[in-house]
Amino acid sequence: MANHISIRHKINSFDKKIKVSADKSISIRSVLLASQAVGTSKISNLLESEDVLNSLKVIKKLGVDYTKRKNTYYIKGFGLNSFKIKKKTILNAGNSGTLARLILGLLVKSKSQVKLIGDKSLSKRDFSRVIKPLKLFGVNFKSKKSMLPIKIIGTDFLRPIKYIENIGSAQVKTCIIFSALNTPGITEIISKSSRNHTELMLKYLNYPIKVIKKSGYEKIIVKGLNQFKSFEYEVPGDISSASFFIVLTLLSHNSKMIIEKVNINQSRIGIIAILNKMGANIKLKNKKIYNGEEISDIYIESKKKLNAIKCPSNLNSSAIDEFLIIFLVAAKAKGVSKFRDLGEMNKKESKRLDLGVKFLKLIGIKVKRFKNNINIYGKPDLVLNKSFEMKNFLKDHRIFFLCCITALTLGGKWKINDKDSINTSFPEFLKLLRKIGAKIN
Ligand code: S3P
Repeated sequence: MANHISIRHKINSFDKKIKVSADKSISIRSVLLASQAVGTSKISNLLESEDVLNSLKVIKKLGVDYTKRKNTYYIKGFGLNSFKIKKKTILNAGNSGTLARLILGLLVKSKSQVKLIGDKSLSKRDFSRVIKPLKLFGVNFKSKKSMLPIKIIGTDFLRPIKYIENIGSAQVKTCIIFSALNTPGITEIISKSSRNHTELMLKYLNYPIKVIKKSGYEKIIVKGLNQFKSFEYEVPGDISSASFFIVLTLLSHNSKMIIEKVNINQSRIGIIAILNKMGANIKLKNKKIYNGEEISDIYIESKKKLNAIKCPSNLNSSAIDEFLIIFLVAAKAKGVSKFRDLGEMNKKESKRLDLGVKFLKLIGIKVKRFKNNINIYGKPDLVLNKSFEMKNFLKDHRIFFLCCITALTLGGKWKINDKDSINTSFPEFLKLLRKIGAKIN
């Protein structure tokens, strides 16, 4: 079957209420924490994307059984450090940096050596950021240049650590927290602010974890070796998936949308703050707290006039997966938008900062780049009427989504390759676009 799509028409005006796929970060964490709980956890509305299905495969390979009935996964955990690890176990994290980095934190006591592998994109990503703190716990590794494939060799003599995490990576922070669960004593992490789903979930499970907030940083204190009971969890919608529909609405003509039941954790909604600063009118209604996480409906309408932004870099972490689509809004805004310190974008599924700049130039936007900072010269009247073919973007799902939203809002005749990349995070993406009226072949 062809693995490309073509879009030749902009989307017509719409007024729709939709739900987007479940949150990927929360789905992966709920599967991994259920594998460490005592008893059968029930997780409903789990995202059934490749990254999450790979998480389920990984825990199964480590001896944790699960079944699915109706919309619920039943995961049978036997407590902390209860994985049954066979000799020469190979775990495949596929495309998922989150799964790969988090699972290492749960393998720190493994008696047998475990090999971790991933796809082409994941095999280019850096693991020194997690190897370094795990080595301080006493864990050993074999790897070439800290990249996959990696062999982890656990130890019975784990020691708690004090660690300063200054990348602002939730994957690194969570990997350390997971390792701390298996380690006697108190582990302390001073962490540059990043998404905090792990901390909230552990608090919801009554695990002894303490978070002290400072400006831009958090001090996280984890007491090791406490068992926790199985749990029930309903995964909310993913703001990262919602962001493509937010921008679709914002840049379309005379359209409106409500996106229901989306996770609006403060550490994730940088995109809303940024777009509202640019002149959007995005509202959050029906706010509720569910199992420690905040959820709401998102109201959005089209805007003809958008202004450039000098984006405060303290919003970078809370919008880290959304900058590609934010750049598209900057391309349509009046004035020069400035974004700073976005080096982390190049450490994702593809080199997103490099590709984002290339993409903007391709659609006729002037961009000035100096190191990890970019200035985007917006063109409010930008309309595309050329032909575009997008390929060789390492099958990065978020670049695929960006191309679709560009085609549907700015026009042009697009052939976009690697359609299957949507299965990484948002398998319903094209179906949902068609439901709103997009013509996609
Ligand atoms: C994630 C954290 C972020 C994000 C990724 C998911 C997570 O990565 O880009 O898509 O679930 O913890 P970093 O922690 O490396 O910034």
